[in-house]
Amino acid sequence: MNIIILGGTGFVGTSLVSRWTRAGHDLVLPTRNPSLARHLAVLPTVRLVRADVHDPATLARLFKDCDVVVNLVGILNERGDSGRGFLQAHTELTRKTVAAAAAAGVARYLHMSALGADEHGPSHYLRSKGLAERIVQSAPPTLDWTIFRPSVIFGTRDSLTNRFAALLRLSRGFMPLARAQARFAPVWVEDVASAFDLALAGSDATSRKTFELCGPEVMTLGELVTVIGECSGTPASVLPLPDVIGRAQAFVMDFLPGKPFSRDNFRSLTVDNVCRDDGFKALGIRPAALRGTMRAWRST
Ligand SMILES: NC(=O)c1ccc[n+]([C@@H]2O[C@H](COP(=O)([O-])OP(=O)(O)OC[C@H]3O[C@@H](n4cnc5c(N)ncnc54)[C@H](OP(=O)(O)O)[C@@H]3O)[C@@H](O)[C@H]2O)c1
Repeated sequence: MNIIILGGTGFVGTSLVSRWTRAGHDLVLPTRNPSLARHLAVLPTVRLVRADVHDPATLARLFKDCDVVVNLVGILNERGDSGRGFLQAHTELTRKTVAAAAAAGVARYLHMSALGADEHGPSHYLRSKGLAERIVQSAPPTLDWTIFRPSVIFGTRDSLTNRFAALLRLSRGFMPLARAQARFAPVWVEDVASAFDLALAGSDATSRKTFELCGPEVMTLGELVTVIGECSGTPASVLPLPDVIGRAQAFVMDFLPGKPFSRDNFRSLTVDNVCRDDGFKALGIRPAALRGTMRAWRST
């Protein structure tokens, strides 16, 4: 198949690209900066294209003769705290992508959302993802779509476990943590990729459906950091911060370069990130647990 993956150069995209190139599909990866994705350029059947995916004319050109469009574009932080950056990256881009895919006669559209996406949610991130889902669900009948809503995703190249492991090394294990009681069900990137794999061809089981994707273990953020410490060789000593201090920490970090934590991240953490529906069960996939998987990759 001819597949275009928006956001295909990132963490989840890299996993999908290596699978789908092995399966012999032709992949086009639009990117803002091809030189940062050289590791993907060497793969057979992959074409990196410098492109502004926010430009409808560019999308129309890219989607010509394409069988499947995958949208993985996502951000965790924006400049400032107005919500405009999230709306542009998640909602408006989805609106343009769905319109261009329908107009080009694309058959399948696979959309990456996030668990907790909700147009009335507590953060810009969750609201913009929720609005994007509604746009996909209202796509014309000719465009067959599937939406995935994962909890936090882990894998060898993730930012979640690698960032906490690096922070723990720096702080010798001491970790003052906002919203330490927030609950997650970390999900392995290869299980998420398997779900996309199943949806690629389209079938009654995945057509016009939304799947929540959770790993088998529910843990608090504090427990997650403790497991990361155990697996990365720096035992963690987690200090849960009261919300008033956590909010202040988020406010200060909002102004640090790279925004390691932000007010919007704090607001996202005020709701649990656990599944109501078992999307993996519906797809016939048995997801892997964080502890065993992470130990295995850290020891290789
Ligand atoms: N990782 C998780 O734990 C997690 C959990 C739930 C949901 N998700 C969702 O899964 C998707 C993929 O996540 P990921 O972890 O793979 O993200 P990632 O590694 O940060 O990759 C994001 C991709 O989006 C592109 N991108 C970012 N901002 C963009 C913008 N403003 N305009 C156009 N392209 C932009 C980047 O492409 P270039 O830089 O090459 O242009 C990059 O390839 C996202 O939608 C995310 O919200 C992730």
